[in-house]
Amino acid sequence: PAAIPFHGPRQAGVTAPQQPATQLLALDLPQTSAAADRQTLRTVLDELTHTLAMAASDAPSDARLQGVGTTRLTSLVGVGPGLATRLGLDVPAGLAELPPFPGDRLDQARGGGDLLLQLCAADRWTLTVVAELAATAAKAAGATPRWSQSGFLSVTAPGTTPRNLFGFKDGTANPGPAQDEQFVWGPPGAHQNGTVLVYRRIRMDVAGFAALPADQRDRTIGRHESDGVPLTGTTEHDDPDIYAKNPDGSYVIPANAHVRLTSPRLDGGARMLRRGYSYDDGPTDRGLLFCAFMRDPAQFVRVQDRLATRDALTPFLQHQASAVAYVLPGAAVGGSLGAPLWA
Ligand code: HEM
Repeated sequence: PAAIPFHGPRQAGVTAPQQPATQLLALDLPQTSAAADRQTLRTVLDELTHTLAMAASDAPSDARLQGVGTTRLTSLVGVGPGLATRLGLDVPAGLAELPPFPGDRLDQARGGGDLLLQLCAADRWTLTVVAELAATAAKAAGATPRWSQSGFLSVTAPGTTPRNLFGFKDGTANPGPAQDEQFVWGPPGAHQNGTVLVYRRIRMDVAGFAALPADQRDRTIGRHESDGVPLTGTTEHDDPDIYAKNPDGSYVIPANAHVRLTSPRLDGGARMLRRGYSYDDGPTDRGLLFCAFMRDPAQFVRVQDRLATRDALTPFLQHQASAVAYVLPGAAVGGSLGAPLWA
């Protein structure tokens, strides 16, 4: 298989077709003086660029990767809001840590961070080797690993939607390339090749949800579990019609259904690009690594504010970690991630 190019105006890990496995990795930088820390950030980004470009190339030079040939690695690197503020970096104005939401049970040791990396590939072996190479390179330049998290997708035929651990298709109603320009990538200007990643580690009560009767599971989401078709439609990619009513005047898609409360129709048409992965870290610790890309994280805040108190899914979920990062524009051949920060 051909390598997925690392270099380009935009980092490949945002919109390249989703791969079976992911690894997220957060790093912290030392806090000395702004001038010294800017230099550290620059060196760390140079090192990460070099390592990730090597690992994604047709012929990786590292001995471990040589044996397996092309990795088809995709990656992205982003900077966290705390670091951006400390160093006065030119990031989108809306970049900020998320506010607390009702029901949050966040573990600080599993979230946040000055730098966030997401690696994706066909298998976890590749990801662990590359994560190790990236962390070693970043450590040599002064960064400290903060947390990491691995995840996986259900196997599906190309072009079909993977399922989450509740068994539902997840990722159906995503924006297409044209809408990405409006809602995912930054506006024309300094950030038009960047985006914001919102990450939430959400534990799911898989057994509790499975114990609901089948029709109630469908009504919780607002789609059919079997094929992902909205309760108001006939094919998976029909847009859920949140205004359709039953003869008795009730909504076909219930008032507390997930696809109602997340509907772009409630946000003036605004969308986010969701690329979630499942995780399994023990018998009672399974769920979704919610990863979504958007121009402005306020979009996530508006949706999650509705979900936290009203979503029929909420009793089966627990948000356990959170991170936000400005995904930097891509690196030109011979250039480095973060170059626009120093222009
Ligand atoms: C849609 C599951 C958390 C935002 C969906 C769908 C499912 C689903 C099954 C319908 C299929 C699809 O369009 O992809 C889940 C589960 C979650 C979760 C199991 C937690 C473990 C969240 C969170 C947000 C969110 C935290 C944002 C705050 C959305 C959006 C849609 C969606 C925007 C598409 C709505 C539309 O355009 O019709 N989710 N979701 N979800 N979800 Fe979630």
